[in-house]
Amino acid sequence: MASTVIKGGTIVTADLSYEADVKIEGGTIVEIGKNLSGDKVLDAAGCYIMPGGIDPHTHLEMPFMGTYSADDFESGTRAAVAGGTTCVIDFVLPDQGQGLMEAAQRWHNKSTRAHCDYSFHMAITWWGEKVWEDMAESVKAGMTSFKHFMAYKGALMVNDDEMFQSFRRVGDLGGLAMVHAENGDVVAELTARLLAEGNTGPEGHAYSRPPQVEGEATNRAIMIADMAGVPLYVVHTSCEDSHEAIRRARQAGKRVWGEPLIQHLVLDESEYFNADWDHAARRVMSPPFRNKLHQDSLWAGLQSGSLSCVATDHCAFTTDQKRTGLGDFSKIPNGTGGLQDRLPVLWAQGVNTGRLTPNEFVAVTSTNIAKILNMYPKKGAVLVGADADLVIWDPQKEGVVSAASQESSIDYNVFEGQKLKGLPRYTLSRGRVAFEDGKVQPEPGWGQFTPRAPRPAVNRALSAWKELSAPRPVRRSGIPASGV
Ligand code: URP
Ligand code: ZN
Ligand code: ZN
Ligand code: ZN
Repeated sequence: MASTVIKGGTIVTADLSYEADVKIEGGTIVEIGKNLSGDKVLDAAGCYIMPGGIDPHTHLEMPFMGTYSADDFESGTRAAVAGGTTCVIDFVLPDQGQGLMEAAQRWHNKSTRAHCDYSFHMAITWWGEKVWEDMAESVKAGMTSFKHFMAYKGALMVNDDEMFQSFRRVGDLGGLAMVHAENGDVVAELTARLLAEGNTGPEGHAYSRPPQVEGEATNRAIMIADMAGVPLYVVHTSCEDSHEAIRRARQAGKRVWGEPLIQHLVLDESEYFNADWDHAARRVMSPPFRNKLHQDSLWAGLQSGSLSCVATDHCAFTTDQKRTGLGDFSKIPNGTGGLQDRLPVLWAQGVNTGRLTPNEFVAVTSTNIAKILNMYPKKGAVLVGADADLVIWDPQKEGVVSAASQESSIDYNVFEGQKLKGLPRYTLSRGRVAFEDGKVQPEPGWGQFTPRAPRPAVNRALSAWKELSAPRPVRRSGIPASGV
């Protein structure tokens, strides 16, 4: 079997950095050591050999707000490998009344032209017996994480009773509960009021979703997950209010993880006050960009470990699509891009500034994600036996983010003009060079679906679960219970 050797680089994992060559055969790492030889050699002199990025949160070709997100699995994974990401985890979004497995089949059909591996989370967009039954099928088919939207009232939002039932089911199945944490009722009220007062511009989007709606929903989801005895992953943690809830839960021994986005780490709410309507609307996403003070909180969370992963929530819309919301901000499709930019921007703003070590960078862009989503060490590792999903990272290579040269099919980039130092020299997907010399080496259909097993059995005796399951006196009608 033909082999590839990556020579002369420094391996950087979440734990340690050391000089060694990496030998690959049949898509996996077969040897790590000094002076290795093989049929093909990739020069990594002066570079770091890191596990390829895993983006735990994307929406490719997703039906949303009356349109479809503009990047499909083809362009989305091209952007991914160009930026050093080798695995994306996309959300299957069943229509109202549609079975989960039928929706999953749609996602499998859409993903046949992917350039790198991918996996799916399942979204719980409505509630009923069919969903309850299909959740077991979803787990059997390798989709073991279930996202609940606490926002988007009248569309995707689930209520607390549904969320509690679903969380219990997820816990019973050994799955992971996920939430988009924003109080959808309050957002709907604030939106209606802003529009009635004539505040129709994109900045109204930010005013309708203050940090409190996220903090409240995060706290609520944590408490409901605790009562249901299920681990919880909070997507797009954007503010101190939500981070604080996650920090407190983790300190109390709860299995709760938070995921800031690269957008929220480096872009702030002043983008919405730009006089150019298009500029502001292109940045409309939920949760919105925040005041700079919240960015300090997110960086501190990554440094201390109270926040675990950096994602993109890549859900890209063209300027034309955004213009659907001219005259009514609530109709601007919510979402931004970032698949190509996550690693380079995080390196520039995180590692080059001294906020993160290279090892912490690997942890939050790859290894922690693989562990939480139960893909480790197949993904997220530089170990013998692991998939050769690798990025050979040149810390000296410079660039500038520009829509003109990006792989995404949209016509702008929210990080436009950001200066980069640190970019991929090569990106390898299961041993195949998918990006080299600044160019994607396309092979649509190379990417494979990566099923994920249920999580190892965890101690479900979280605080409230213990109380709920403990025998307690009950008072039935006519029979006075003593001691209550
Ligand atoms: O604005 C966003 N985040 N759009 C994508 C859907 C979601 O809420 O994650
Ligand atoms: Zn969301
Ligand atoms: Zn502009
Ligand atoms: Zn999302």
